[in-house]
Amino acid sequence: MCGIFAYLNYLTPKSRLEVLDLLVTGLKRLEYRGYDSTGVAIDAPDNKNIVMVKRTGKVKVLEDAIQENFSGSEYSEPVLTHVGIAHTRWATHGVPCELNSHPHRSDEGNSFVVVHNGIITNYNDVKTFLQKRGYEFESDTDTEVFAKLVHHLWKKHPGYSFRELVEQAILQVEGAFAIAVKSKHFPGECVASRRSSPLLVGIKTKTRLATDHIPILYGKDDNQKKNPDKDAESGKPTEIRPHGQTRELPVLPRSDSTSEFMPLENKEVEYFFASDASAVIEHTNRVIYLEDDDVAAVRDGTLSIHRLKKSLDDPHAREITTLKMEIQQIMKGNYDYFMQKEIFEQPESVVNTMRGRVRFDGNSIVLGGIKDYIPEIKRCRRLMLIGCGTSYHSAVATRQLLEELTELPVMVELASDFLDRNTPIFRDDVCFFISQSGETADTLMALRYCKQRGALIVGITNTVGSSICRESHCGVHINAGPEIGVASTKAYTSQFISLVMFALVMSEDRLSLQQRRLEILQALSKLADQIREVLKLDKVVQELAKDLYQHKSLLIMGRGYNFATCLEGALKVKELTYMHSEGIMAGELKHGPLALVDDSMPVLMIVLRDPVYTKCMNALQQVTSRKGCPIIICEEGDEETKAFSSRHLEIPRTVDCLQGILTVIPMQLLSYHIAVLRGCDVDCPRNLAKSVTVE
Ligand code: F6R
Repeated sequence: MCGIFAYLNYLTPKSRLEVLDLLVTGLKRLEYRGYDSTGVAIDAPDNKNIVMVKRTGKVKVLEDAIQENFSGSEYSEPVLTHVGIAHTRWATHGVPCELNSHPHRSDEGNSFVVVHNGIITNYNDVKTFLQKRGYEFESDTDTEVFAKLVHHLWKKHPGYSFRELVEQAILQVEGAFAIAVKSKHFPGECVASRRSSPLLVGIKTKTRLATDHIPILYGKDDNQKKNPDKDAESGKPTEIRPHGQTRELPVLPRSDSTSEFMPLENKEVEYFFASDASAVIEHTNRVIYLEDDDVAAVRDGTLSIHRLKKSLDDPHAREITTLKMEIQQIMKGNYDYFMQKEIFEQPESVVNTMRGRVRFDGNSIVLGGIKDYIPEIKRCRRLMLIGCGTSYHSAVATRQLLEELTELPVMVELASDFLDRNTPIFRDDVCFFISQSGETADTLMALRYCKQRGALIVGITNTVGSSICRESHCGVHINAGPEIGVASTKAYTSQFISLVMFALVMSEDRLSLQQRRLEILQALSKLADQIREVLKLDKVVQELAKDLYQHKSLLIMGRGYNFATCLEGALKVKELTYMHSEGIMAGELKHGPLALVDDSMPVLMIVLRDPVYTKCMNALQQVTSRKGCPIIICEEGDEETKAFSSRHLEIPRTVDCLQGILTVIPMQLLSYHIAVLRGCDVDCPRNLAKSVTVE
């Protein structure tokens, strides 16, 4: 959902080409967030202007354009201090084209240039306001209004610092954003801010940082309340109103400039602003995760983090955290695609999810992130599992076990639909928000909705420092490691296991459930090896893909614990191969989908020896009696079931509630191989982005 990256070197000589190279590498790491178009802005060799390069398409196209236009010449000369900003776009407002690509500029002279991730929802009002003041717009994006608004404010308040100008502009815009702004009027400075879209600051110094915290600095917030230009009810600045009214912008309070910057006591320093940690890890592991409405500014090599409004629960400092990520984790290694690597990482990633939590010798489980809340959770009215896409499927996959082991009502909700329905939420509800990225807008908004209504919020995320992680009362990090392929794979199996572990924790003191718990724990201990076994099917699945890749459609059927695999398998096939695919609850077959079955429709069925086996066999017979030739996923050595198949994939036996982990892997492999055979870009499926930070 757009990736932003900015780089600033202070007193550390780098040529413009090196800066460009750094920006391009940063964008490559963020490419999974959007790949419709890309762009960069750096200072021109005269140090008075800003040069921008933008291209439609992936980062590689931009990289080639940079090579072509800038190699050699004055771009190789070292510069002591420099600011570059960069962007990779997933189009929301305006088609993918160079004009709509970021950075966007304030005027033809490139006074202010901005990169943005998110949506400025009141951009039409801001645009009308600016058009009335003579601004002409060149793109169809919401972002361009921000660059022009800062320019307007700069003309109006010549004495304002760069940070103050950006702050004033932020106060006028609504919606979600992470932005980084550069200006030719403020050379060597960069200002960045976020609201509901992720943004972090990476810090690289030669010597150890003298501090682990950056103090938060506040403006004179009391003045704001007295500001006559404020809307009495909402407290928001009133200047930019729907339908473009004409009053001038209110002069909002300026901060106390004497305490404006807090030195890091490091002379030579490099700063990185990025949408996520994968873009900075090769440079530094020291980062600050910015909070909503933080304004981070670098001037004279010094970073300050500023807020205009003081809130009581806001900590007085932002912590400089050390990333645990390793560079190898974000490289493809010997694999052709990140998705392929991530599928094959699952024997290790599931172990990492359980590491330090499950003790197989003592049959005990401790989830440090929620253990203090377990008594409260046990007293709750119901459990709600909320997520989108694959994360939602992990909730579908584990619902039955949660119902069984917690003996509580469990509701499973798609975040978008949950919000559309204004679902009633009570103070004694416990709401789980499942999200790989921890930034999905629908999930985050559902979280805020439930939090406002007093429910306990539990985050299940893969991204440390993400919004969902920070806004939850408690939670479980799934520890799957960075997932870069746009299609989620290892995060799904780790989310699955995290929810299974939660169910086991909840039933720890239930005598009647001990036998069942033991059975599951034993199965968990064998899971990594069994996943390795399933991965050995890769070649067989590749052959199967050769039979299927030219078809238009693929039906995937199952029920019980494997229904989630059908939904997840169909989603993988759709998003990666652009083939139609449908996950069908086998019990529903006769209520409609059976009409699709004939001798030419590919059907894949999951039929395992579990409590729904007989019912699955009924569905299987309904398919074969309509001349369907199903491909069957069955248990090793199950000759009776195999007899009904045209082709089959045998998986090892495990406990019923964990089967979904083993059955989903052939589906991941199948969608991967079909996508390769159809010539699709596996890691960057068309029209998609990994982290969907807009509604
Ligand atoms: C599908 C996929 C998406 C995500 C969904 C939620 O392969 O990756 O369906 O699962 O966009 O994303 P997160 O989990 O980051 O909230």
